[in-house]
Amino acid sequence: MRKTWMKIMCLFMVISLCTGCASGEKNDKKKDSLKIGVTVYNQYDTFISSVMEEVLLKAQMKEEELGIKISLDVVNAGGSQWEQNNQVEDFVEEDYDVIFVNLVDRTDPSFIIEEAKSAGIPVLFFNRELVDEDLERWSGLYYVGAVTVEPAIMQGQIVIDAYRQNSQMDKNGDGILQYVMLEGEAGHQDSIVRTEQSVATIENAGIQLEKLDYGIANWDRSQAQTKMLEIYRKHGDAIELIIANNDDMALGAIDALESLGVQREQWPVIVGIDGTNVGIDAVKNGKMIGTVYNDAKGQAQALIDVACTLFLGKEVEEKYFRLPHNIITSENVEEYQ
Ligand code: BGC
Repeated sequence: MRKTWMKIMCLFMVISLCTGCASGEKNDKKKDSLKIGVTVYNQYDTFISSVMEEVLLKAQMKEEELGIKISLDVVNAGGSQWEQNNQVEDFVEEDYDVIFVNLVDRTDPSFIIEEAKSAGIPVLFFNRELVDEDLERWSGLYYVGAVTVEPAIMQGQIVIDAYRQNSQMDKNGDGILQYVMLEGEAGHQDSIVRTEQSVATIENAGIQLEKLDYGIANWDRSQAQTKMLEIYRKHGDAIELIIANNDDMALGAIDALESLGVQREQWPVIVGIDGTNVGIDAVKNGKMIGTVYNDAKGQAQALIDVACTLFLGKEVEEKYFRLPHNIITSENVEEYQ
């Protein structure tokens, strides 16, 4: 049953960059063909999809650069750690060279670590960060992600700059910004840090904030829309600022305001994180004051670079690969389109 599911998923999402690998080449294959198995926590996550698109592009470029074949089989864990464990077990049985894991539950990587370790197959965890102690359990484990606190500080900075340029953001003129926080998954390292540090950054700049409400929308646009509809019905025009842990949730808040028919001049200021294509469009058309670019391209490049280095039998000394962010506002949005 598990195998059948895996086959269906492979048919669904197999992206084979390897056109010339004939069967029966198993012995030679290791030398010029790198087989990577990838499991993502949720294939419908906008940011994760953008990382996967970039991984495919970088792999294609790397094939040309190194003259090797790279095949990537991407499967969706659909939010189940049990399913993801089974997928990794299958990758191990099928003798993949490297496995990329976007953990469903970042506190529960033990099965995957033990499976990979016993088969000697390196694992590159990405985006959903396991604790240091887990990553230290074997030398063949790596993490690729972002500098965790940076986007929160940059998101705070976007709000500080906007407020200094336009005090009308404080719609009722009471000297305090009344805000709503839209949070990603509880327990995700990025939700925790972004929720705390964006607010701390704004307050440290001397701007007074008052939290009117919050909603946990699990990074998801439609969940954020639902939460925002409830929140707006409660607080209405008193909301002056919406801080979202990612662009998709900021866009869900925009969907809510639009569906309620709130006039644009009455909208609170909205800020996101990720710089996904849809997020960038919202900055371009003025619906969001800004976002923070979460470097999907850089993370994809790091994944492919490390996988190829290991495949070529070279040593990788670093265990962590963390990519920096950039602020995107109306001033520089053109550069990102
Ligand atoms: C991104 C979110 C994404 C989440 C998935 C975060 O780093 O900002 O958009 O949904 O990772 O784990």
